[in-house]
Amino acid sequence: MSTSRISDIRARQIIDCRGWPTVQADVWVDGRLMGRADVPAGRSTGSHEAHELRDGDEHWYRGLGVEKAVKNVNNDIASALKGWDVTDQRKIDMAMNDLDGTPNKSRLGANAILGVSLAAARAAANVCGVPLYRYINPACRVIPVPLMNCLNGGKLTANDLEIQEFIIMPVGARSYKEALHMTTEINEVLRDLVIEKYGILATNTGDEGGFATPMRGIHEPFEFMTRAVERAGYIDDIVYAMDCASTHWYDKEKKVYELDGKPYDRDALIGLYREMTEKYPIVSMEDPLEEEDFEGYALLTKELGIQIVGDDLFVTNVERLRQGIQQGAANALLFKVNQIGTLSEALDAAEFAYRHNYGVQVSERSGETEDPLISDLVVALNSGQIKTGMPVRGERTSKHNRILQIEEELGTAGTYAGRNFAKPA
Ligand code: PGA
Ligand code: ZN
Repeated sequence: MSTSRISDIRARQIIDCRGWPTVQADVWVDGRLMGRADVPAGRSTGSHEAHELRDGDEHWYRGLGVEKAVKNVNNDIASALKGWDVTDQRKIDMAMNDLDGTPNKSRLGANAILGVSLAAARAAANVCGVPLYRYINPACRVIPVPLMNCLNGGKLTANDLEIQEFIIMPVGARSYKEALHMTTEINEVLRDLVIEKYGILATNTGDEGGFATPMRGIHEPFEFMTRAVERAGYIDDIVYAMDCASTHWYDKEKKVYELDGKPYDRDALIGLYREMTEKYPIVSMEDPLEEEDFEGYALLTKELGIQIVGDDLFVTNVERLRQGIQQGAANALLFKVNQIGTLSEALDAAEFAYRHNYGVQVSERSGETEDPLISDLVVALNSGQIKTGMPVRGERTSKHNRILQIEEELGTAGTYAGRNFAKPA
């Protein structure tokens, strides 16, 4: 008779889309490989994220190797969890946290722990004979709006734009299938426009697949996007979002934001954002202020009246989110599983957000593999929105293509979030 006991756990070092090492973990049940998952990695990271364990040996992937994390899975974690019921997700996750014994998973590595946590969830879904999204939430029904990051700046490119991501959101589509068609068409037109002004070399892309064009300032990307949307014929169906990733252009010593060659204090920056939202249909802004300024976030959230998403601010951490909620800082959580390091804790953060009327936006990392796991998570969470890059390379297409499959599987039981992306439930 088959059971759901973990018989083995194995990990290996693989590489992500940047050619950097990351952890892949396998969970075996009753002698059969039942779950496998890859761990993503950020480049534009928040300082309060869980600890990613890297080998630091300069002769092995320039210090970025993850062989220590792999060893921690194969030794400590595997010995501790063999014989456990794979469907006990929370028990498994908490046991790994206990085994680690540090507040930020720095002994075993959040990358080691997360690989096992996600592979265990996949294995459990397979043991139960259901897709992962349904295993996590049998009541899932919302197909998300994709946030398509079509122009890249900041740490994800080598151009001069401080703002990291300029995003189009196809809220007027009726399905994911249609959303994907609209946005890829717009991207093709955008490519033509970029070539017209900057030449073919300017169509090279950043880490998340958006063009890394040498534009300047905060307006030019929106002007380009608007022309592309108009020329493609979708002006009524598209709204905009941005990830400012402002921690990375905030000068901590001088206490000013350095944007486009000019210093801005907090109030001046909020004023600039207000102008932007009056000029363009921007409905969502991520990390508009630096990661420690909860008070500023509260002011800005009230002032702008749009979705304000905390990424570096919250780092998918219930404690940071609690502080934000108490102060009225932001109104949505960016959900990145590797910021916290276990599936259970990430789901806790999402549930905490929902309970306090905050939205949840599921997100890729700039360093991804072909593993489409976040596509199952966004549907499981009924979150209504996923940020997962332009569908121009495998590590991004895998997510979009997985959502197409899920949309088909859900059929009439699923609804595309559309204009209700922020609060679809
Ligand atoms: P990261 O960038 O994955 O490098 O952190 C994405 C983001 O800031 O949202
Ligand atoms: Zn971000």
